[in-house]
Amino acid sequence: MRRKLFAANWKMNLTPVEGRALIAALRAILDPRAAQLARDRDVIVAPAFPVLAAAAQALAGASIALGAQNMHFEEKGAFTGEVSAAMLRAFGVTYVIVGHSERRQLFLESDELVGKRAAAVAAARFVPILCVGETADERDRGRTLEVVMRQLQAGLAGISTEQARRVVIAYEPVWAIGTGRTATPEQAATVHGALREALRDRFGATTADALPILYGGSVTPENVDSLLAKPDIDGALVGGASLKADSFARIATSGLA
Ligand code: 13P
Repeated sequence: MRRKLFAANWKMNLTPVEGRALIAALRAILDPRAAQLARDRDVIVAPAFPVLAAAAQALAGASIALGAQNMHFEEKGAFTGEVSAAMLRAFGVTYVIVGHSERRQLFLESDELVGKRAAAVAAARFVPILCVGETADERDRGRTLEVVMRQLQAGLAGISTEQARRVVIAYEPVWAIGTGRTATPEQAATVHGALREALRDRFGATTADALPILYGGSVTPENVDSLLAKPDIDGALVGGASLKADSFARIATSGLA
């Protein structure tokens, strides 16, 4: 059976002090259930770069893993504002989000750039969480699958079948992010099913069927269970609701007794 994954994307929120407090509150709820969680799922938090050190300290001894929100594809050099694999490794990062729609929309990251980042993340032996998703306009024009397939193919262009065994895909419709307008489980399931099919074509069924495809976009404690009930939805990438310990803990324990 595929493992589930629940990822907290803190985006540009929380100072080191606030991040530490949130992790302490999260651990108070999740640590006692660590063995139960470990059976079928992984949980990660992805703070902003300046908060990684505090988060890493606060996570010492926890089974919650540390993620980063982006990474550059070069090892080092004149790339102001960017961070390298070695820098992230120093904090114990194991997952890296790439191609988030906010990077694509607000910072004009192209499919090609996202592909280079994803390839570098995989080459550095981190798990890339490759985000794909259409805008409201693209959905209205009936272009949803065309857009997410293009993003998927470009994002995975530099990833081998061997590396694909440690890849996560996140479907995040842009119109659902931070809007309170969640995709219905049926809307999400249609896209997740198409993504799974494309992954089978690219990497073969064994690899594709083992790889988690997350849904993101206004996930809450109230709607997570119905999304996770769909067979190809393997977890959630959570923004707003990940900034409160009780709501993210509720999401991360979805489906557990
Ligand atoms: P919200 O959960 O705030 O809609 O954000 C989703 C997201 O972009 C996670 O990466």
